[in-house]
Amino acid sequence: MPGGALQRLPKGNVSTVIAVGSGKGGVGKSTVTALLASELARRGNSVGLLDADITGPSLPKLLGLHGPLSDHGEGIEPARTEGGMKVVSSQFLVEESTTPVIWRGPLVTRLIMQFFGGVNWGTLDYLLLDMPPGTSDVPLTVFQTVPLDGMVFVTTPQELSGLIVKKAMNMARELRIPLLGLVENMGTARCPHCGETFRLYGPSRGPALAEEYDTPFLGELPVDPKMSEMADLGRIDTYRSSELTAVTDRLLGSLTEARSRTLTVLRPAAPEERPTPPSAPPRP
Ligand SMILES: Nc1ncnc2c1ncn2[C@@H]1O[C@H](COP(=O)(O)OP(=O)(O)OP(=O)(O)O)[C@@H](O)[C@H]1O
Ligand SMILES: [Mg+2]
Repeated sequence: MPGGALQRLPKGNVSTVIAVGSGKGGVGKSTVTALLASELARRGNSVGLLDADITGPSLPKLLGLHGPLSDHGEGIEPARTEGGMKVVSSQFLVEESTTPVIWRGPLVTRLIMQFFGGVNWGTLDYLLLDMPPGTSDVPLTVFQTVPLDGMVFVTTPQELSGLIVKKAMNMARELRIPLLGLVENMGTARCPHCGETFRLYGPSRGPALAEEYDTPFLGELPVDPKMSEMADLGRIDTYRSSELTAVTDRLLGSLTEARSRTLTVLRPAAPEERPTPPSAPPRP
């Protein structure tokens, strides 16, 4: 059991569980989580979103959702977006969007476990977890208890962001969570007048960082005023872009690759790989 004595919760009817994090605050984890989930849902998948940022929940605002949640005896019923994505968040437990959830670490970690195991997720192709910033209790609990298929990391081209995402990637590695890839967010912008793309923080650091950690570089998402407008309207799920399509394609490729690596370890040797049994001695 990687990472200690805690038991991983059973996966139930959820096929693939992916955490999205960065270590660093404000780089776009929640935005990227919601965008990837929405793109996967548009491709015909059943998708859930678990807001693991208990003290700083963002998904309800990005997706225009409100509580309270109900329970009809089969676990907590998640909220649903217009497109059918299922969402749970601590935001649904408080009345006002400005009321803080002031809880100590142990309560926060218990709620995350309940959000995974005590919610009526039904059958899901993908469950995405929006991780809080930092590398303390919450990521540790998630890594130890949630049966993650892997983690996607979000960074910006700034050196500080790169430094902190390394901490998060090291933590995931130490707890044997597959690194599914790195997304570089907000490194570029498009001039509204001439349409030319320019770099806000100098050269991209994502590809080199991904290579250093032997994980795929999933691509860049530019700063896009349309994206923040849709986030403000609570309709980030309707945002589309060619960059998002490419990042999602690469993530799916990375998942397949990560799975095939696990299968290579588990699959029995093919006949040609099996050692040749010693030939029977000739009959007298
Ligand atoms: N590509 C983008 N284009 C425009 N705005 C963006 C983009 N990515 C993120 N933002 C904006 O940047 C802000 C921070 O994004 P977000 O909340 O997703 O970051 P976060 O890493 O989840 O933050 P926290 O650490 O607080 O959870 C938000 O206002 C979001 O709308
Ligand atoms: Mg966030």
